[in-house]
Amino acid sequence: MLEADRELIERFEETFDPAHPERGPVPAKVIGYGEMSTILAFDASGCEGIVFKRMALFETNDEAREYETIYRAYNVALADLGLRLPDWGLVTVDSKWGPVLYLTQTKLDPASVGHKLIHSAPADESLGLIDSVLGEIRKVYAHNASLSGSAGVELGLDSQISNWALAEPGSQPFYFDTSTPLMRVDGVEQLDAELFVRICPQSMQWVIRRYFLQDVLDRYYVLRLVLTDLLANLFKEQKGSLVPPALDLVNDFLGGQAAMAEFAKSGVDLRPIELSSVKSYYRQDMPIWWLFLNMRRAERFWRTKVRRADYRPILPGRTKRFHLRVDRG
Ligand SMILES: Nc1ncnc2c1ncn2[C@@H]1O[C@H](COP(=O)(O)OP(=O)(O)OP(=O)(O)O)[C@@H](O)[C@H]1O
Ligand SMILES: [Mg+2]
Repeated sequence: MLEADRELIERFEETFDPAHPERGPVPAKVIGYGEMSTILAFDASGCEGIVFKRMALFETNDEAREYETIYRAYNVALADLGLRLPDWGLVTVDSKWGPVLYLTQTKLDPASVGHKLIHSAPADESLGLIDSVLGEIRKVYAHNASLSGSAGVELGLDSQISNWALAEPGSQPFYFDTSTPLMRVDGVEQLDAELFVRICPQSMQWVIRRYFLQDVLDRYYVLRLVLTDLLANLFKEQKGSLVPPALDLVNDFLGGQAAMAEFAKSGVDLRPIELSSVKSYYRQDMPIWWLFLNMRRAERFWRTKVRRADYRPILPGRTKRFHLRVDRG
């Protein structure tokens, strides 16, 4: 378990400016933005080599505790299946808005993170990463397929390339995006789906609850959609040249090792994926996300500049990557 300096986190939480987290008495560098979390690093002794994923979406202590329980169980379950996770830990602090969770992880080399690596490494190394990711996906979805019906603990992965890191060519990749613990027990989603709704612009919340939410969550448990998402996301990462060779790897996977009895007998769809379906998945995705991101920015502007109210999450600025989760509709 990773230890972190609670006092420092408390001081940061009390003093930081959401628009400029790097400027307060406890300066933090933002190293990534997520839907549910902001990924921070502190330049303070004891914090070297640790990232802090700040989650400020809980309204009550019970809610935060419930999330914490699921988060722990999810990390343990993935490690039990043989996935490689960075060391992790968790600190909860109080804030004027309610409990805030800081999920800690060993900091991985930024250049080793998938969406960076595919732009700097030769194509065969990028494809090596994708191939090894398929091996990790297999561990999880073969486990799910081995359950009888929906009894037991099913796990989901967000397979996109930005959630994996490859320290050395040929090594086992890390999976580090565990802050959305996708886990069903006896068919029941453990994470409170309202947490997803809460991160969406208020004006869109009812649409998301009504039309997208269940579908978005269900997709993480369907091997075929998880694979399609991994491929379509390469377009989003502006690396479309990798899609055809990565698609070959995926189809070898579906026709080869994945077709073993473990998948086939549980009725998992192992037919090859067509390039056209990856493209149409991507085309349906994108406009929804663009709208979502821009509405979120507009809402922040309205709340902070016009109404001059506190706005609690640290939100992304301009981004080239569309990095949102509910875009799987
Ligand atoms: N342990 C880590 N070491 C180095 N960089 C990290 C680490 N964890 C996250 N990052 C960086 O931050 C980005 C976002 O992190 P992560 O995928 O965990 O969160 P997320 O996608 O926002 O997840 P969520 O949607 O659950 O909030 C990553 O793509 C990566 O660039
Ligand atoms: Mg991620």
